[in-house]
Amino acid sequence: MGDEINVSRPRRFCGEVTVPGDKSISHRSVLIGSLAKGKTEVTNFLRGEDCISTISCMRLLGVEIEDSGTVVSIEGKGLYFKEPSETLDAGNSGTTARLILGALAAQPFSTTLTGDDSLRNRPMLRVVNPLRHMGAEIKGKDGDDRLPLHIKGRELIPLEYELPVPSAQVKSAVLLAGLYARGKTVVKESRPSRDHTERMLELCGAELEWNNRIKALKGPAQLSGFRVRVPGDISSAAYMMVAAAVIPGAEVILRDVGLNPTRVGILDVLEEMGANLEVLNRREFGNEPVGDIRVMGKESLKAVTLEEDIIPRLIDEIPVIAVAALMAEGTTEIKGAGELRKKESDRIQLLTRELSRLGACIEEREDGLKIEGNKPLKGSECFSHGDHRLAMALTVAGLVAAGKTKVKGTSCAGISYPAFEQDLRRLTGNAVC
Ligand code: S3P
Repeated sequence: MGDEINVSRPRRFCGEVTVPGDKSISHRSVLIGSLAKGKTEVTNFLRGEDCISTISCMRLLGVEIEDSGTVVSIEGKGLYFKEPSETLDAGNSGTTARLILGALAAQPFSTTLTGDDSLRNRPMLRVVNPLRHMGAEIKGKDGDDRLPLHIKGRELIPLEYELPVPSAQVKSAVLLAGLYARGKTVVKESRPSRDHTERMLELCGAELEWNNRIKALKGPAQLSGFRVRVPGDISSAAYMMVAAAVIPGAEVILRDVGLNPTRVGILDVLEEMGANLEVLNRREFGNEPVGDIRVMGKESLKAVTLEEDIIPRLIDEIPVIAVAALMAEGTTEIKGAGELRKKESDRIQLLTRELSRLGACIEEREDGLKIEGNKPLKGSECFSHGDHRLAMALTVAGLVAAGKTKVKGTSCAGISYPAFEQDLRRLTGNAVC
């Protein structure tokens, strides 16, 4: 895969795609498998750069992990690791950094954790604060809000914690720390964030009581190795879904896509926009619902207003939802999504800047976007700024713009969807190179 994608309107957009394994679940399978006793076997693991960062960190902590190409096997030894001989590097991955902190907080040694330029600019205090309340000593840059962080593990005490921002990463870090603390660790969230950690902890025998808003975990926990097949990532499927929905005559089937209720906001929104889609063949992989999604193209969609409540269920899909909004009749507003400024890039600012290059009528708001739909887009040069979700959303915009679009800096798609360009090429025949 090169570092740019040239794209134009395709003559066709048809076929079947099995999107890669879910990134959130892949991370958790390695982390939680490392904390369990015995062998964990993971199939359909996402071999994207972020999940490889999780594997590298766990190996430095002494966990034996083998990847046969079809199965990732983790030889877990329980909750305590070996002291690493070097700094742990989470690369571009917020999930690796924030979740691993939960386990490092309780280790009987000190660790230094860092990441790439983007990750070193992302907030960490949201995880550092609750872990400190549990007893860990953590120091870092910018008032302990930035990597590199130095973590001195301690014997942890349980915590009852109300999340100030709806974040699955923070919730998961506290729950993982709670595995070590004697007593009940309780996390409350005002809006349900993705619950893959809860589902996987349950799968490997943790004592966890939970509903949408409240999770109560009893520690210290004993987890047992497990087998899991990772569902396809709905966040990766979203690019193909939106492209198919807005290309007249398109017909795409996406196989084995994860349909966890905390992740399917994109389906609700596309349905509200009038997209022609249906879910087929619903079933379960482990503790996670999956299904196939069929999408047929339409001449035009309808604008929508997204309010704060739905944002955690589709936060990573907003860049590509913005592209769908460009092809919809009316004005789409996205509100209560200030968290988008804290992702791999400031997605509010950069989406506005880059989609404007294609002639989009898009306005930046402090906590969201206002998008005028059904205005003609013209092919142009645009940039991913090293953000995988921007790279892929801009490529989808290029599929509906007149003329040629060059998206620069697309190799970062490999962070979450290594075969993105290849899959698009197959669906479009010739419109991507
Ligand atoms: C993730 C949680 C979300 C999401 C990220 C993956 C996870 O982040 O945006 O891509 O795997 O827990 P926040 O926890 O910051 O909302």
